[in-house]
Amino acid sequence: MKKTVICPGSFDPVTLGHQDIITRASKMFDRVVVAVLVNSSKTPTFTTEERIELLREAVGDLDNVEIVSFDGLLAEYCKSCGINTIVKGLRVVSDFEYEFQMAIVNKKLNPTLETIFLTADADSTFLSSSMVREICSMGGDISNFVPACVHDRIVAKYRKS
Ligand code: PNS
Repeated sequence: MKKTVICPGSFDPVTLGHQDIITRASKMFDRVVVAVLVNSSKTPTFTTEERIELLREAVGDLDNVEIVSFDGLLAEYCKSCGINTIVKGLRVVSDFEYEFQMAIVNKKLNPTLETIFLTADADSTFLSSSMVREICSMGGDISNFVPACVHDRIVAKYRKS
């Protein structure tokens, strides 16, 4: 049977770390659904459409990867599309507590769900979307942090605002 996994996130914006995890997941599983959270407690800098567009640029060349958006609980979304495996990246120890909690809550809400963690690439352990946003908003160089193909679009967003 073909194995489908989901890589959920805010992707506000996609970073080299996200690109690495999605690429590695695409080599391990038959199909990878990258799911962009529409509404969260945080107001995103990039619209849902922009985040999807940036992801398409970053990982759209991977044949078995598709990009969707979802609203509400991840556990419910997974149930609605018959996915029972979440893949997430783990960067540093401080990620662990939150991710561990989320994995348990998701399993409580939908007992078919398992969460698999891939360790972040050594070059991405320090990297986060919020760091990219902060550096970019202050005019810093983000070229080591985001995929080259989306660099200019991310910078342009800050030039506009
Ligand atoms: O990129 P992020 O912000 O770490 O991604 C977090 C995400 C989107 C995976 C997580 O916030 C999520 O699944 N949100 C949907 C709402 C939900 O299911 N919450 C869990 C129970 S509180």
